[in-house]
Amino acid sequence: MELRVFPRRIFRPLIPLVAPLGAMLVVGATCAFNVAQAAQPTAPDTIESRVQGCIACHGTHGQGSDNDYFPRLAGKPAEYLFNQLMNFREGRRKYPPMNYLVTYLSDEYLHEIATYFSHQRPPYPPPAKPTVGSSTLAHGQDLVQHGDAAREIPACVACHGAKLTGMEPAIPGLVGLHRDYISAQIGAWRSGSRRAIAPDCMHEIATRLTDEDVNAVAVWLSTQPAPPNPVPAPARSLKTPLACGSEPQ
Ligand code: HEC
Ligand code: HEC
Repeated sequence: MELRVFPRRIFRPLIPLVAPLGAMLVVGATCAFNVAQAAQPTAPDTIESRVQGCIACHGTHGQGSDNDYFPRLAGKPAEYLFNQLMNFREGRRKYPPMNYLVTYLSDEYLHEIATYFSHQRPPYPPPAKPTVGSSTLAHGQDLVQHGDAAREIPACVACHGAKLTGMEPAIPGLVGLHRDYISAQIGAWRSGSRRAIAPDCMHEIATRLTDEDVNAVAVWLSTQPAPPNPVPAPARSLKTPLACGSEPQ
């Protein structure tokens, strides 16, 4: 079962956290301060000041960082980002610094932050160099583009888009993410520590994948360059093969 692969991955994110933790506490204080004292004349409450607390880990424009577990936010659909902030606030996703940061923020405030990052268009990092053999890469590409009908695994592109840039309003792109982040998220869906609005299609899909599948799709996705115009596909332009509560059709 997945625990064979994931314990090391689950605990590794805690190591790089030791350094940002100090920054995070300051950041948390800043957020609380912004909320509690929005009218304070000496601290202008602009969206740029609100996201100061986020950029230490997610990059100045939400482009992500070299840390394998700090994801890109820029350009993901606003409702997707908003759903995630709600998921952290309400415990459907668990990462203590994120859970802590959003605990006291209102829906409206989170929506503004989500919209801000969805409009950011910083360049994508160069695609990762493949670190696995060509058969693993080919298997990853095959699952992403065609799925595996015999095992009822739909193609990832059926929902995430042929260009892997996601679909409005709430399906994220899968380009520009690190391999370890992708496999950690799929692992979290399998173990139940990440949940989405029911019906949780990603939970269904994640539990149909083997460890080898997860590794193969994560590596292949991380080696893909972003397309020239990396915007999410329009809402309802793809008919999702499974029902997803976060993307009603
Ligand atoms: C200490 C570092 C840190 C700080 C500060 C931080 N984040 Fe995060 N954030 C993370 C990590 C790590 C994850 C992935 C957690 C996981 O594994 O689920 C994440 C996940 C997210 C996600 C989900 C991304 C996705 O693609 O699913 C959103 C949205 C997000 N953060 C927004 C914010 C916002 C907004 C702020 C500022 C209020 C913020 N973060 C501050 C580290 C941080
Ligand atoms: C039936 C539609 C559907 C299919 C097929 C699908 N996904 Fe998803 N995926 C979603 C939705 C919806 C979300 C957002 C869930 C949420 O709100 O947390 C998502 C989110 C994700 C995320 C989280 C991204 C992030 O930034 O944290 C990853 C990783 C992912 N999917 C990978 C895959 C892979 C790999 C496949 C193919 C094996 C796949 N998905 C197939 C609908 C789908």
